[in-house]
Amino acid sequence: MNKADVVKSVLGSRSNIPQKNTVGQAFAPTNIALCKYWGKRNQVLNLPVTSSLSISLGNKGASVELTLSAEKHDVFTLNNEQVDMSSGFAKRLIAFLDLFRTEEKQYFSAVIHSTVPIAAGLASSACGFASIVKALNDLFGWQLAERELSILARLGSGSASRSIWQGFVEWHAGVSADGMDSFAEPITSMWSDLRIGLLIMDAGKKAISSREAMQRTVETSSLYTAWPTQVEHDLRLIKEAIQNQDFHLLGQTAEANAMAMHATMLSAWPPITYALPETLTTMQTIWRLRKEGLPLYFTQDAGPNLKLLFQAKDEKQVRAAFPSVDIVTPF
Ligand code: PMV
Repeated sequence: MNKADVVKSVLGSRSNIPQKNTVGQAFAPTNIALCKYWGKRNQVLNLPVTSSLSISLGNKGASVELTLSAEKHDVFTLNNEQVDMSSGFAKRLIAFLDLFRTEEKQYFSAVIHSTVPIAAGLASSACGFASIVKALNDLFGWQLAERELSILARLGSGSASRSIWQGFVEWHAGVSADGMDSFAEPITSMWSDLRIGLLIMDAGKKAISSREAMQRTVETSSLYTAWPTQVEHDLRLIKEAIQNQDFHLLGQTAEANAMAMHATMLSAWPPITYALPETLTTMQTIWRLRKEGLPLYFTQDAGPNLKLLFQAKDEKQVRAAFPSVDIVTPF
């Protein structure tokens, strides 16, 4: 089964002719995994080895206006600038849109506004692909269920399956070969005191994509065999923490999960680390502050930036320690 087969089976007899709308509009939030997705069991369909759990970042994400283009090629603008159509970003998006074109080729114009830096481990691809899928759904009037949108978004990037919703979201790994049981779902919960702080060390493009790093880890890291067991344990604890609003359990489990993921990368060959010197000194500051009594934790994805986890009551202290922090209120 390839991606086109999955699209066909999700869309059924739905048409690719704009219905009421001539423009499809959508927003999708970016999401940060508290229990990470690291490793694919199927590289073509982005099917994960394990389930994962994330939190979406409110109004931080990507909005898209999608129309059919009169030109004989796609046209993208990102944050009011024309996208170089030979760039990696454009190529990925063109290949994704290819899955949704009718036989007599349609071309799209996508006007994208992103409030997160692209390819810097801030899940820009997650909100990017999720917003494109939602915009296609709007443009063509498909009226797909959110579960189906999640399956389609996954074909663009695994973590995009979780960016269909706000709040806490679980992506079920599933077991089937076609991935029809590998979709994300929201976890009903409210946690108004929870805060996420974004600490950007470097907003540039990462040297190694998460796709490549994941694959190398699965193939060469001796520590990877321990990863599914770690995830099973951490998922259980994070769900328990959400249910009981146990902040320490949430923070400690998320931080330990991120460190374990990066340990699998360090033990890959050639080794991979996304940390910059500043990433490590910041971790040490966080550990020191925690020792001094501040309930502050972090997580890190496929990039040097850290995402802080803390509670509303500690906002002032977190700001004092990290003046550049960008604070998000997810609920
Ligand atoms: O969805 P991708 O291929 O960009 O991979 C995301 C990988 C991590 O961000 C490191 C973990 C996660 O679950 O989001």
